[in-house]
Amino acid sequence: MQTLVVDHPLVAHKLTTLRDVRTDSPTFRRLADELVTLLAYEATRDVRVTDVTVATPLAPAHGVRLARPVPLVVPILRAGLGMLDGMTRLLPTAEVGFLGMIRDESTLKAQTYATRLPEDLSGRQCYVLDPMLATGGTLAAAIEFLFARGARDVTAICLLAAPEGIAYLDEAFQGGDRPIRVVTAALDERLNENGYILPGLGDAGDRLYGVV
Ligand code: URA
Repeated sequence: MQTLVVDHPLVAHKLTTLRDVRTDSPTFRRLADELVTLLAYEATRDVRVTDVTVATPLAPAHGVRLARPVPLVVPILRAGLGMLDGMTRLLPTAEVGFLGMIRDESTLKAQTYATRLPEDLSGRQCYVLDPMLATGGTLAAAIEFLFARGARDVTAICLLAAPEGIAYLDEAFQGGDRPIRVVTAALDERLNENGYILPGLGDAGDRLYGVV
């Protein structure tokens, strides 16, 4: 598995305000959206394209277009929804599938409660949106789900990641034959006893949408 921590002053600047406990939900949503677009730029570095030729007003020009099948963007409900617009802004022709997953707070295991995805993902490049890579359980379950339907490769875009989550994914998919990438704005220190990332930013879903 490949992990990329995007090292850019604008990413660091926006992330710092995102972490700040004084940042309100509307500002948090806007910053998360902007951050995702910056991360998506790096995350799509290997997106498949095909060669095309277009006519400029003066001459033919060689270029590229996104290859088919188009990429599939998969926000993990609920917090991943806060990353969807930032991602599709960069990939407007991508299709979007949904995975509803919840972490059981006592066992920290992921449970799937909703799926809305194509049955056949053969040849698809999938971009999973999950703001917090904490224990890695939710993301591992999502990646397994997508591979079971035939996905060609999976790139996870996470606002923050914990070393424990990266290690968990590394081990879970060790020796696998399909590429996995994690693109994140920062690799934080560790998890606390409740599986929250430290220093982190708290509960991403709550900060995006309020405590429900
Ligand atoms: N989910 C969150 O929203 N925050 C964390 O720190 C860990 C998991």
